[in-house]
Amino acid sequence: MKASLRIDVLLACMALAGIGHGALAQAAEVRDTTVRPLVPAPQTLTPAKGELYFRTVSVQAQGSAPKARQALDAALYALGIPTNGSGSGNGTGSATVRLQLIDDPALGEEGYRLVIGEDITLSARTDTGLLHAVQTLRQLLPARPQRELRLPRLSIADAPAYRWRGVSLDVARSFLPMAYLERHIDRMALFKLNRLHLHLTDDQGWRIQINGYPKLTEIGGGSAVEGGRAGFYTQDELKHLVAYAQARGVTIVPEIDMPGHVQAALASYNTLACDNVTNLAPYSGVEVGFSVLCLEKPEAIYPFVQAVLEQVVAIFPSTEIHIGGDEIKHPLYADFVSRAAAIVDGMGRTPIVWEEGSVATLKPNALLQLWNDGYDIAPAVAKGHPLILSPCSYLYVDHGNHAGQPGADWCRKEGLPLQRVYQFDPAPFKTAVGIEAALWTEFVHTDADTDARLWPRLAAVAELAWSPAGTRDYAGFVQRLDGLRPQLDALGVQYYAEPDLGWNAPAKHK
Ligand code: ACM
Repeated sequence: MKASLRIDVLLACMALAGIGHGALAQAAEVRDTTVRPLVPAPQTLTPAKGELYFRTVSVQAQGSAPKARQALDAALYALGIPTNGSGSGNGTGSATVRLQLIDDPALGEEGYRLVIGEDITLSARTDTGLLHAVQTLRQLLPARPQRELRLPRLSIADAPAYRWRGVSLDVARSFLPMAYLERHIDRMALFKLNRLHLHLTDDQGWRIQINGYPKLTEIGGGSAVEGGRAGFYTQDELKHLVAYAQARGVTIVPEIDMPGHVQAALASYNTLACDNVTNLAPYSGVEVGFSVLCLEKPEAIYPFVQAVLEQVVAIFPSTEIHIGGDEIKHPLYADFVSRAAAIVDGMGRTPIVWEEGSVATLKPNALLQLWNDGYDIAPAVAKGHPLILSPCSYLYVDHGNHAGQPGADWCRKEGLPLQRVYQFDPAPFKTAVGIEAALWTEFVHTDADTDARLWPRLAAVAELAWSPAGTRDYAGFVQRLDGLRPQLDALGVQYYAEPDLGWNAPAKHK
């Protein structure tokens, strides 16, 4: 894939570098321009002639955009770029970076413009839009400090295709440390991914401290899938994580999986199980569908559900709260999901339920998360439910990067190579709010393995969720993503050596 440079890719690179048709005379002027490709691809990119070079910058901010300002300062600091420059444009050694909030409705909530000319101007209607502009600028800048910086002159106008650009991490089967989650949020931000769904509870572990129910973390926090990591997050840690993510444009979406997938809760508080249930031990296997809150004992389970959700809502400002609802068959299932969804709704939040929850009585604004490719979601769409798209044969990245890689393969024996992920087409799902990859952790137990399942495939997810369908082209994506390898290296990502990207060879970049 990578060895032969395709002519269309070459032309695209020339265009990005400002070498237009009939403008080859300009080639000498711009020959040193390094094209630093962008993922996700922006809506429009208009190259201009020449480049801007500088050693220092001066930042000018018009309006208050704390997230964007912090991200810009951090990016400049990481590259060792002094920010006390004066003067502007080529020849002075300094460039002005202007962050401006403008009231242009065409930009929407998340759109932005980025113009590199004599200066660098980032404009958006919101702090979030400006933050996206900063992330684009970060991708255009080198990954590591350089004495002199060169940027191709260009103009970008950009906005996301979908508002929900997510990844779900299963910290219940196998725990992920706070430090990993922070690193992960930094990486998401670079690719404009904006929803981190934490699957906080399952049969193998309960990972969130709940006041009044200490055994949930004493017992439920002490188990894990076989070979996995146990542990739990305190409420203070989760609040810290929420703030860390918010500053980077990421919303943490908590999931409490109910009424099934609850063995860790039952092992902690036996009264949540029906009286005839004898298996109340912590669980470390990989089978599913055997545990359930005792739906025949509403007086035992609903006060628990209420207390847990109250505390979840107090920790996580996310508008949407996930209540699970997968893989359980029970005559009272629909009733439970209806009631749990109503509890979330009564707290002023919007429930998300896995696809099976579509049988419940839900307000039309409740979100459904599609995970089985073949699930008949049409009736739910007809009722107006917004969808989060996670079809397992494209987006369950616990599956191998290639056929035969050890791990999950129940949904697709051939694994989910990068190209497969990139091929997912969300267009037929008219009520989709976006896309979410899911990493289940039955077989993924270390930070390094987590990285190698997530990357580079999350870059494809980011592009599916952000870039307009018409701009998608795998060969071009591969070229652009290859150009971002130094950025992933600088962030310490232990990505899978994807053959399509040629990443099995050591990186040559500085
Ligand atoms: C799921 O994979 N059980 C949502």
